[in-house]
Parts: sequence; C-alpha cells; structure tokens
Amino acid sequence: MKYYILFGPPGAGKGTQAKFMVEQFNLRHVSTGDLLRREIANKTPLGIEAQKLIENGLLVPDEVVVGMIENLFTSERTSAGFLLDGFPRTIRQAQMLDELLKKNNEEVTKVVSLMIEDELIFERITHRAQIEGRSDDADPAVIQNRIETYHQKTEPLIEYYKERGKYEEIDGNQTIEAVAESIATIM
Ligand code: AP5
Ligand code: MG
Repeated sequence: MKYYILFGPPGAGKGTQAKFMVEQFNLRHVSTGDLLRREIANKTPLGIEAQKLIENGLLVPDEVVVGMIENLFTSERTSAGFLLDGFPRTIRQAQMLDELLKKNNEEVTKVVSLMIEDELIFERITHRAQIEGRSDDADPAVIQNRIETYHQKTEPLIEYYKERGKYEEIDGNQTIEAVAESIATIM
C-alpha cells in the first residue's frame, strides 16, 4: 500500500487537491479534520470532546487521531493506498504512524507539502467561511490560533520528513490547476 501525506498549513489547499489526487492515483482520502467534524455532527463522546479544541484552534490529542487512523488502515484496504490529509500534525503522531506501518513492513511513501504565505491563509479561510460555514473559520482569533498551532506543533515535521528523504515541497500560492499539475509531476 502507498501512504502519501498531504501536508500544509490551514487553508493551503489540502482538501482541494486531495479531490484530484484520489481520482488520479486511486487513493483513499483520509482527512482527520473531516473525520472529527463527522464525530461532532453525530454528537459522539469523541466529537463532544474534540469540538471544544477545534473551535479554539487547538489540536485534538495524538492518541485520539492515531486511533481513528489505525481503524481505517485495517478496515479500508481496497484502493492502491491512502492519502492522509491533515495527519500527522505533531512529531509524536509521525512517530506513532511510523510504528503502526512498521508492524506490517510498510512505510510512508512521500510527503507532499503545500506551502503558502500566512496572509494568504487568512484570505482563503475567510472566503471559505462564507461558503462552508465551518465553525473554526468564523473568528479571526481562532484562525490566528490555528496558524500558531501549525508553526509550533506541525512545522517541525518538515525537518522530520526531510531527514528521512520523504519530503517534497510544492508552491501552494499558484492557481488550483497549477498546484495540481505540480503535484502530478512528483507523485
Ligand atoms: P483540518 O480540517 O485538517 O483543517 P486545516 O488543517 O486547518 O486545513 P483546512 O481544511 O482549513 O485547509 P485545507 O488545506 O484543506 O484547504 P482547502 O483545500 O479547504 O483540521 C481542523 C481541525 O481539526 C484542526 O484545527 C484540529 O483542531 C483538528 N485536527 C485535524 N487533524 C488533526 C490531527 N492530525 N491532530 C490533531 N488535531 C487535528 O482550501 C481552503 C480554501 O482556499 C477553499 O475555499 C479553497 O477553495 C481555496 N483554495 C484552495 N486552493 C487554492 C488555490 N490554489 N488558489 C486559490 N484558492 C484556493
Ligand atoms: Mg481541509
């Protein structure tokens, strides 16, 4: 199985590009953000716990998201592989993912990293707020927290995957079509 990681700050275009990538490369899209929003909508105990954190722009505990990922890896094995969108997001999650894959003699295939400027993040998320109505998009202070959480907790993963020779960076400031074309050249 292939295990691609779609990496990048909030609003970088992960969800947008994932739609093209799953079609083109026969991958199963796994967005931990989407999975958590489903738990919230269904008012499960996990969802109720996650909601407070997400609405403050904070991360959900590592064990919770890794548990969700592990379930999917064992139950959904019909495509050529997985496209992990928004996971891992901490060094601990990346280590737990490596351990999980190692059990089956597997490993992360590649990290596709979409990089955009912080100012663009605000612009895109504020625009999306009017379309999708995500609760964590509505308040500029929460968007700012998400950006800070990204810089503190998630950005160190760039070094982690560079050291392992898995990291590929794409300029996410381009148009949607140009980003998709750039991704296709490195897959
Ligand atoms: P998550 O849902 O993953 O949100 P995020 O990382 O903040 O990223 P977004 O979904 O906001 O952005 P995106 O990169 O998908 O961009 P999109 O394609 O939509 O996570 C939400 C929360 O859940 C987290 O804050 C955390 O609390 C929790 N969580 C999730 N995973 C977790 C984990 N592993 N561990 C712990 N907690 C976790 O694009 C954005 C907008 O821009 C759209 O309107 C789009 O149309 C537009 N756009 C996209 N590309 C372009 C382009 N090239 N040019 C112009 N516009 C564009
Ligand atoms: Mg997304």
